[in-house]
Amino acid sequence: MTQASSKQQRDILVTSALPYANGPIHLGHMLEYIQTDIWVRYQNMRGQNCYYVCADDAHGTAIMLRAEREGITPEQLIDRIREEHQQDFRDFQIRFDNYYTTHSEENREFSEYIYRQLQNNGHIATRKITQSFDPEKNMFLADRFIKGTCPSCKAEDQYGDNCEACGATYTPAELINPQSAVSGATPIEKESEHYFFRLPEFSDFLTRWTRSGTLQPQVANKLAEWLDAGLQEWDISRDAPYFGFEIPDAPGKFFYVWLDAPIGYLASFKNLCNREGIDFEHFWKADSTAEVYHFIGKDIINFHALFWPAILHDAGFRTPTAVWAHGFVTVNGKKMSKSRGTFIMARTYLEHLHPEYLRYYFAAKLTSTVDDMDLNLEDFATRVNSDLVGKVVNIASRSAGFITKRFDGKLGNITEHAKLKQFIDAGEELETLYEGREFGQAMRRIMALADIANQYVNDEQPWVLAKQEGQDEQLQAICTNALNMFHLLITYLAPVLPETAKASEHFLNAALDWNNRSERLENHSINKFKPLMKRVEMKQIEKMLEASKEQLPAGKGTPEQADNSGAAPEPIADEIEFDDFAKVDLRVVKIVKAEHVEGADKLLRLTLDLGQGERNVFAGIKSAYNPEDLEGRLTVMVANLKPRKMKFGVSEGMVLAAGPGGKDIFILSPDSGATPGMRVM
Ligand code: 2FM
Ligand code: ZN
Repeated sequence: MTQASSKQQRDILVTSALPYANGPIHLGHMLEYIQTDIWVRYQNMRGQNCYYVCADDAHGTAIMLRAEREGITPEQLIDRIREEHQQDFRDFQIRFDNYYTTHSEENREFSEYIYRQLQNNGHIATRKITQSFDPEKNMFLADRFIKGTCPSCKAEDQYGDNCEACGATYTPAELINPQSAVSGATPIEKESEHYFFRLPEFSDFLTRWTRSGTLQPQVANKLAEWLDAGLQEWDISRDAPYFGFEIPDAPGKFFYVWLDAPIGYLASFKNLCNREGIDFEHFWKADSTAEVYHFIGKDIINFHALFWPAILHDAGFRTPTAVWAHGFVTVNGKKMSKSRGTFIMARTYLEHLHPEYLRYYFAAKLTSTVDDMDLNLEDFATRVNSDLVGKVVNIASRSAGFITKRFDGKLGNITEHAKLKQFIDAGEELETLYEGREFGQAMRRIMALADIANQYVNDEQPWVLAKQEGQDEQLQAICTNALNMFHLLITYLAPVLPETAKASEHFLNAALDWNNRSERLENHSINKFKPLMKRVEMKQIEKMLEASKEQLPAGKGTPEQADNSGAAPEPIADEIEFDDFAKVDLRVVKIVKAEHVEGADKLLRLTLDLGQGERNVFAGIKSAYNPEDLEGRLTVMVANLKPRKMKFGVSEGMVLAAGPGGKDIFILSPDSGATPGMRVM
């Protein structure tokens, strides 16, 4: 009887976000697939009935335009990209039960069915809206397909929603000399009928749902703010030309890609069910006892924690058991950057480094929160080398040779029962950590055990005994103890290191069976030890960075390449000297007054106390803050910026802010211990 068999087997369906079928997978994406894959492998190892499905997100304008540019059909493009994605995932040891596409018959059927349900329930509204239109291409233009001169700083060639030069946010109508990024034509304004999902009808439902343990606390708090602010109806239609599914009884209208994308989770699973005879209903009916988890990036929370549960609920399906968001990946402490070579594609990584290095490094740094994750490449090499090669694999390599050479490959008896019990008992704590996605803590716990094992071998010095007469039994016992410790460690690491786990199974000639881990290896034959893992060399990393630089043209690329998944590919400005930076005088200031500026869409007027007089500063943060919430707070300003004359007055400095824009602009506020006038370094 196994240790878990007293509990009932859980039926679990797990998904990762569906990557767009218009570009390659990069390391920002990989964090999510690795996180999910570890969790799923752990569940399956414990004997749960856990399925992992995903798909390419194949619809939308970007894909349509890219195919056109390449002179192929969208279908040809998405088939090709899907192949590439699948190859990348396979090589990173991501084990999907099904990898499908949203451009499938199953998805069309579900999308139409769900839409009909919403419509029958009176939750679809139609009305006319006015949007930018490209009169040459005869198509409506989303904001990012319009370019022009920034109304704030006059930088040219900026997208229709925000300026990469000065960070201002605006509407396309405010751009100077707007142009269609598709054809170069000057956009006109045009009306058309759109279909809306009546999301506000679900405010009460969502208030309950988002507070019912389905979300991480940080995420639930953010959503509570959105819910308090009031929900808007969601525009779910796009006009032709569009690559997607036509809306039933609405010729020329298509489902917006974000409507059928999450439905792609159902479709991919359905496709698996049909193939393998799994009961789809059991997982998705309204009162299902199965569990459904979505792993996503924090940038797509609104789609998964508002629209998606509301739609599922309305259409009569169950809602997810939980939605788990992770943060973005930075490399060496900064946004992934093409010019630095840190915008690393999955394929480029794989050409230079073993996938398990990254799986381990990500695992070692993952928590259950939405915090961003830094891939520091030096730390990456150090940690992989010292933990995996120096600690874990070392235990086996120090003991295996004696067993093979001196004992004909046969283990003896265990003599360190108490020590081994510690290793076996640790499994319970690790179960909680894996289940709760606290992989970093799990890895630390495992490495602490590895330290104990290495210390044991150091203390016993089998290499000394090996040279002495009459110590055979003792020597065999030490190696047997050590290899049993290794067996347990590699069992605990198996969800993270599938290939090394497999090689270790072969070497130990024994399964890695978490649930039966108290059954130990005694008087048991093992196979000859072969090195399980090589050290990471900095040279490999440097080569990977070089290759990443060569591969990608620096700069913005085409609008459809603008990719918000996992890593924000915002170009980094040219390098500056330290002296240039030292010239910037950053000071802590107190916002004594914040007020609206008449006639300004984006700006707030801030009166800042610098500890040596006050400053008047205009800041483009109106979309994110109510003036009254700012008063009394501390922030950081550039105190020696030359005053600038603006339309509404003179601005005497600048406050520091971060974020993508819109509601997500965060003025940088120092510790509450700071006082106005303090220098920031
Ligand atoms: O943000 C993205 O990359 C989307 N393609 C994710 C879709 S996830 C799901 F909803 F389909
Ligand atoms: Zn600008």
